[in-house]
Amino acid sequence: MKRTIWAGLLALVLIGSLGSQSIAVEPATSIKSAAEPWWKHAVIYEIYPRSFADSDNNGMGDIKGITSKLDYLKNLGVDALWLTPCYPSPQVDFGYDIADYTAIAPEYGTLADFDELVAEAKKRNIRIIMDLVMNHTSDKHLWFVESSSSKDNPKRDWYIWRDGGGDTMPPNNWLSLFGHSAWKLDPKTNQYYYHFFYAEQPDLNWRNPEVRKAMYDVAKFWLDRGVAGFRLDAIGTLFEEADLPDNPVLAGKNKFGDPNMDNVHNEKLNEVHDVVRELRTVVDSYPDNRVLVGETSARDINELSLTYGKKLDEFQLPMNFFFAFVNKLSAPEFRTRIGEWDKNPAGGWPLYLFSNHDQIRHYIRYGDKTHNDQIAKLTATILLTLRGTPLLYYGEELGMENNDPKSKEDVQDPIGKTGWPDEIGRDGERTPMQWNSELNAGFTAADKPWLPVTPSYKKYNVVAEEADKNSILNFYKELIRLRRTDDALVNGSYQAVDVQNKDVLSYVRKGEKKSVLVALNMTPESKTVQYDLKPYGINSNSAKTLLASPHNTPSSANLRNLTLPPYGVFVGQVQ
Ligand code: NOJ
Repeated sequence: MKRTIWAGLLALVLIGSLGSQSIAVEPATSIKSAAEPWWKHAVIYEIYPRSFADSDNNGMGDIKGITSKLDYLKNLGVDALWLTPCYPSPQVDFGYDIADYTAIAPEYGTLADFDELVAEAKKRNIRIIMDLVMNHTSDKHLWFVESSSSKDNPKRDWYIWRDGGGDTMPPNNWLSLFGHSAWKLDPKTNQYYYHFFYAEQPDLNWRNPEVRKAMYDVAKFWLDRGVAGFRLDAIGTLFEEADLPDNPVLAGKNKFGDPNMDNVHNEKLNEVHDVVRELRTVVDSYPDNRVLVGETSARDINELSLTYGKKLDEFQLPMNFFFAFVNKLSAPEFRTRIGEWDKNPAGGWPLYLFSNHDQIRHYIRYGDKTHNDQIAKLTATILLTLRGTPLLYYGEELGMENNDPKSKEDVQDPIGKTGWPDEIGRDGERTPMQWNSELNAGFTAADKPWLPVTPSYKKYNVVAEEADKNSILNFYKELIRLRRTDDALVNGSYQAVDVQNKDVLSYVRKGEKKSVLVALNMTPESKTVQYDLKPYGINSNSAKTLLASPHNTPSSANLRNLTLPPYGVFVGQVQ
């Protein structure tokens, strides 16, 4: 069975002073209101540093590699980069196990390299967003080394230590997201410590004020270096109920062979809001609208909406995985997911994404194996024409696909080893960026990159696609250019239209004078649609074509009879 576990598990889990360095750069769009924060109109691009560009040819990407590709990113139209963790780490969870929060992993470079990246990016009006992992550290972090050294160490209470539940039993039945008990016995002090993820990722005790201060100091360290904000990892699991009640066990087993469990006592406790608000206060004390992006999820949109904060004082950009994982081209389903997020009860600004380093790439998830490239253009259109901030994952602009390990021996991601073959891990979506059709897709000159390049790189790479006017890459560029320059796409409201249509997703971005109609055929057959946009205050019967794919649409289209080819995309101006 193809891997679906991470999405499933994720659904279960997540059910100072002024900075010395200003990061003011030009607005992300030429015509937006000057009063609006930059992140509302930015295109954010996630980079997995280990896989982006290898400057020293050791098979792993690095900071200098990213710096060397800034012109490409600028040219694509990116405004901010979210870097997944590049701190010193034993790399058990490829950086999400941090051993030092105020340095750069030697295999990725130095702090000076990082400063250079920030400065060079700034020259190109690109901001850097760091990944902040606050739930846990590496077990090699000095805090944990001290904490585990004795029961009376001053840092003992920085982590969650408990006596066993008797006779080699852990304190309770809680499970790690990455398989088996969430407790590990430390023989030296004969107590268990709690780890929601790998055993090498002990959870911090967020009820300890010293932990809070230490982590906020980490945030200031990076804000002072000019970062534009943070993506907060695993935010829902910061707190656990102190008296450790067992979680209810549900029917069936998960991919690790553990019982399914409802994590009611160790997820999304209310105190998480206090921490995000506190961190937001830190971030807001710096100039230039620094931002908090959240790895947030919830049982429903109302719960997700709470992550903006009651006074919009928590995340500016929480992630919406209900939208990201619709996982089928269904116009009604997308209409619902977009509508609820656009009109979320908090009135927060929507963030939209499809892919990241934990998920099968959406080129595969939405592709039908025949029209994949056209579908990639269709999903790009959704992402880049909605009212909200798009978050891209490196390589999606090329149509990069997964390259999943074929055998357990090939797996690098530990969950793939624990759960093989039902859970094959996340290597497939983390493969090297495809720069050209040469050795290792131009990612490294080393004999062997840390993960094998995806075989499709000969066709799907930057050089080849820049030269092809119909490529996915050029389609992304065109969409980004349009969303920057068209007033309705910058400022217009979102209105679903033709809402009974099962096959074609249509919406209008309603501007003050002119508006934009987006029509997306989500089927493999041609479809004809008739629009009456008068109820939306739009009187025209035809639309001026702004962008259409496949590229065979005339310069204007009849709204009473608009035919869309299979998975066809139409973006037109109406008034
Ligand atoms: C979420 C990150 O996206 C994932 O890659 C990581 O394994 C877990 N958090 C644990 O930090």
